[in-house]
Amino acid sequence: MTEPLVLGIESTCDETGVALVRGCELLVDRTATSMDQYARYGGIIPEIASRAHLETFLPTLDSALDEVGVGFDEIDAIAVAAGPGLVGSLTVGICAAKALASSLGKPLYGVNHVIGHLAVDKLADGPLPERFIGLVVSGGHSNILLVENIATDVRELGGTLDDAAGEAFDKVGRLLDLPYPGGPHVDRLSQAGDLSAIRFPRGLAAGKDKERHKYDFSFSGLKTAVARYLEGARASGEKISPEDVCAGFSEAVNDSLTSKAVRAALDNGCGTIVVGGGFSANSRLRALLAERADAAGIEVRLPPLRFCTDNGAQIAAMGTELLAAGVAPSDWDFSPDSGMPLTQTSMLPR
Ligand code: KG4
Ligand code: ZN
Repeated sequence: MTEPLVLGIESTCDETGVALVRGCELLVDRTATSMDQYARYGGIIPEIASRAHLETFLPTLDSALDEVGVGFDEIDAIAVAAGPGLVGSLTVGICAAKALASSLGKPLYGVNHVIGHLAVDKLADGPLPERFIGLVVSGGHSNILLVENIATDVRELGGTLDDAAGEAFDKVGRLLDLPYPGGPHVDRLSQAGDLSAIRFPRGLAAGKDKERHKYDFSFSGLKTAVARYLEGARASGEKISPEDVCAGFSEAVNDSLTSKAVRAALDNGCGTIVVGGGFSANSRLRALLAERADAAGIEVRLPPLRFCTDNGAQIAAMGTELLAAGVAPSDWDFSPDSGMPLTQTSMLPR
């Protein structure tokens, strides 16, 4: 028997994503983004993002279905991102998904888009291991999760106490007058810099903090340290090397992320770390995690870059996992949950 065909809809932030997934096979994945509208504001404007979803959803859906010649009648279930994300953006995708599911008479799953960042890896690397450590790193999240079952049992081991990794990169990008979003620019400069020229502090890495926050992160002190360094150098007329600043900063962030993720895998007897989220595009994260995990005998699964930013494939992949695990579809009246807990994989019926 062929596995069910799931339509995934993603509208948590600035990307409108639509995809079709069957088992571990991605049939089509289409994304439209409104990111180019935010450069002049230096951040996403929720109202603009919601309107962009309204304008792009139907054309994106139509072009995805046309590309593979799939009709609405062939879709077995619909999965939509229920949170975390911007309420207005989520509402557009959820209303569209409810309308489609009710008119087609198909089950609807409201899914956690952050867990989807991990589920999407199966489309690149095959079925997910039974249990694994998830490292979710994006503009909004930096979390270490113990995934016992991606459909039903996700536990939060730790997360950031302040800024997320991508957010910290974007803030340092702003300090260096780089275009928004700064993350990829800081990454690019860091690759030309000296990793050890400037040593910035690692948060929660020593003493009581390290014990109490074994798997937690803190990046706001680091961002302040970069700001102080730049202020000091500018005041004294010292020449600033943006490359070395970015390299030292990136090393501090990635030292924390990778050492704690590997520690979590070892402590919990997990042989695999799955990484997800937009920040997993970071070059130093990829290199340092591979190096440290390899030394500890742990496998790292890093989806290709096109799966790292928000997309419909991650939502459809979650849908296939929920169906395979026999999880009940969501009620028709579930609402978007901008702060959906990471331990909640889907909107269960009441
Ligand atoms: O997951 P994502 O697409 O959106 C959400 O936050 O949900 O992640 C975007 C974040 C932004 O903060 C962006 O600057 C950062 O990931 N980012 C990077 C890189 N590529 C994207 N940060 C550092 N290095 C990169 N190569
Ligand atoms: Zn995301």
